[in-house]
Amino acid sequence: MSDLSRREALSLIFGTGAAFAFNACSGDEETDETSAPPPTTTTTTAEAGDSAVELESEIRDLTLNLWAEPSTAEITPGVRTDVYSFGAEVIDGDPASIAQSGSYLGPTLHMRPGQRVRITFENRLPEESIVHWHGLVLPQSQDGQPSDAVAPGATYEYDFVVNNPPGTYWYHPHPHGRTGEQVYRGLAGLLIIHGDEPELPSGANDIALVLQDRTLGSDGQLRYVNTMHDQMVGFVGGTLVTNGVTDLTVGVRREPYRVRLLNGANSRTQQLRWSNGQPLTVIATDGILLAEASEVSGLVMTPAQRTDLWVDFSTLEPGQQLELLSSNTFIESGSMMGNGMGNQAGSDLVLDPLVAATFVVVDSEATPGSFPDSLGTPPTFGPADAVNVDAPKQFTLSTRRASHWINNRQWQGREATDVETVSANTVELWEFINQSLMAHPMHLHGKSFLVTDRSWDDDSAAGSWATIESGIIDAGLRDTVLVWPGQRVQIAVPFGDHLGYFPYHCHILEHEDSGMMRNFQIT
Ligand code: C2O
Ligand code: CU
Ligand code: CU
Repeated sequence: MSDLSRREALSLIFGTGAAFAFNACSGDEETDETSAPPPTTTTTTAEAGDSAVELESEIRDLTLNLWAEPSTAEITPGVRTDVYSFGAEVIDGDPASIAQSGSYLGPTLHMRPGQRVRITFENRLPEESIVHWHGLVLPQSQDGQPSDAVAPGATYEYDFVVNNPPGTYWYHPHPHGRTGEQVYRGLAGLLIIHGDEPELPSGANDIALVLQDRTLGSDGQLRYVNTMHDQMVGFVGGTLVTNGVTDLTVGVRREPYRVRLLNGANSRTQQLRWSNGQPLTVIATDGILLAEASEVSGLVMTPAQRTDLWVDFSTLEPGQQLELLSSNTFIESGSMMGNGMGNQAGSDLVLDPLVAATFVVVDSEATPGSFPDSLGTPPTFGPADAVNVDAPKQFTLSTRRASHWINNRQWQGREATDVETVSANTVELWEFINQSLMAHPMHLHGKSFLVTDRSWDDDSAAGSWATIESGIIDAGLRDTVLVWPGQRVQIAVPFGDHLGYFPYHCHILEHEDSGMMRNFQIT
């Protein structure tokens, strides 16, 4: 699985795999192979077509084995790096439901609304773990929570019905105190739900990119320095790694594409731009289609957020390259500078944009596609539906004793305070009030919420916010929201009917691991 060599990965791209973006689809692969400017040998290429699958038309139950294990992967050319990796096999159901990644990333899981899914997770790691399905609406026992972590050698049985709209989701481990390091070592994968959607580019024109960062030592091994300092600031790697490799190159035809982005980094909030200055056309946030596309030139994505883009490569010339550039907003914001915390341990401070991926346009006929007439439907609820419309619940985010807190509390396993207790099938207004000096991307398990207001309690970070504000998309539904220092961010959350405890936390994994996580309890 993740022992796939670079050569094999390359041959997958240029070879037979219909599931790969570069040469899939029509019958003219050979023409493309010879006339396309192929990625040079100094360029790393890996699969970028995770989402290009042909699923059976009939939706069958799906039974999978999924495991996490120590493995090795080729993150930079010619170097074997020790990683942790997810592997999976289909025991029963559509064989196309899993697509191996060719890197340390877990296989992409393809599911359908209404599908019953049984997964046996086997923990082959030398430490406890559990798998969380980020964004999926599931009962407590299926959520993959820290309290359900299983010991080395043990298994956890999942059995659920997919109850989300089609879109881009992901899965990652969630053992308390160890999530950051396990994700960093390689445990993460895409989970894509397919179903009725508007006319969007599909098949080979549906590409997924998992954006991460890593620090590799001169021995080629991953560095993850989990000092108190890292927990405080969050671990930022010095090198961008996309789809598990440095310097990812993706061949594209001169046609419209759907590009699904996941910020799978531990703590790096990225601001993304196209190298030619054209805006990014956003069609979905955190898995859910927007009612109307949003055009931004510097898209901001926090860890765990997903953004689906519509990109028309037909406007580019054959051979032209288009880079997806990423800046680390957190450092650019300078919000931690001058506080003695700006130097993120174990990583190079990089202020200039880095290249997250390079798209190379193959020599094909330009086939402009028309943008769909409609995308998603507007949300059916709003702040006025909240049971506490006049008295939003408040959740202060603060830093003390070199750690981060929510309402002066930290993770204590399954417990919830009064403000954390909600009634099933109600909408509530919550406000995250950031009294710390750091931005926190706050995530609620299994809930898609609306961002209904942003205001300042303390506007000393308003200057840095102004540099990224135009790239913040608050229009649609989200499951993770960026709360800038000094901000008060109000969200309207429909809590649904799954009773029990569900974590909410900062998705800077080092913050989460050090305790910036609580539960809400649905009663
Ligand atoms: Cu990706 Cu508890 O979350
Ligand atoms: Cu989650
Ligand atoms: Cu945080």
